[in-house]
Amino acid sequence: MKKIAVLVGSMRADSFSRKTANELISMFGDNVEAKIVEINNLPLYNSDLETATPPAAWSEFRNSMKEVDGVLFVTPEYNRSVPAVLKNAIDVGSMPYGNAIWNDLPGAIVSIAQGNIGGFGANHHLRQAVVFLDVHVMQTPEVYLSNIQDMFNSDDKIENQATRDFLKSFTYAFEAWIDRLN
Ligand SMILES: Cc1cc2nc3c(=O)[nH]c(=O)nc-3n(C[C@H](O)[C@H](O)[C@H](O)COP(=O)(O)O)c2cc1C
Repeated sequence: MKKIAVLVGSMRADSFSRKTANELISMFGDNVEAKIVEINNLPLYNSDLETATPPAAWSEFRNSMKEVDGVLFVTPEYNRSVPAVLKNAIDVGSMPYGNAIWNDLPGAIVSIAQGNIGGFGANHHLRQAVVFLDVHVMQTPEVYLSNIQDMFNSDDKIENQATRDFLKSFTYAFEAWIDRLN
């Protein structure tokens, strides 16, 4: 059984990123346990708090990430970059020095946007940060979901079959990527 942590770069209750994450979670195969690891409650990274007793939410996040075989990021774009909540999770997970949770983890990135360019800026800024942390990010298929506000029906399902097929093929590719690296 492969465990995949899904990190969502939006705190909004009605977030399209979260809806997309839930759809992707439902598309993985039977031998995958994918679930959202919550990052909304992580205190902003501050090395003054990196004591023998760091914030409980940091420790909980770090511990749950140590158990996974892969990480999937699903994020919107904020001002052509990564939303602060997700960057904060990356920073929290990168410390303390020598104990980063990211080392050698297979990763994949999905960006979403209400506009036409699919969160390209966020996608690639995120790639830059996590590649530095030795996350092995799958290069293709790339996923930039544009016009996300038109994507979901009233049951929060993606309607378009071609989009569903593409996302399903992305989950297959990511499973194979994890297998290659483990
Ligand atoms: C502070 C802020 C900055 C944003 N900047 C961008 C941007 O650079 N590019 C873009 O396509 N959308 C931008 N948006 C729109 C978001 O991508 C859009 O609201 C999206 O639905 C947010 O994701 P969510 O639905 O998962 O919360 C921005 C929204 C906010 C709140």
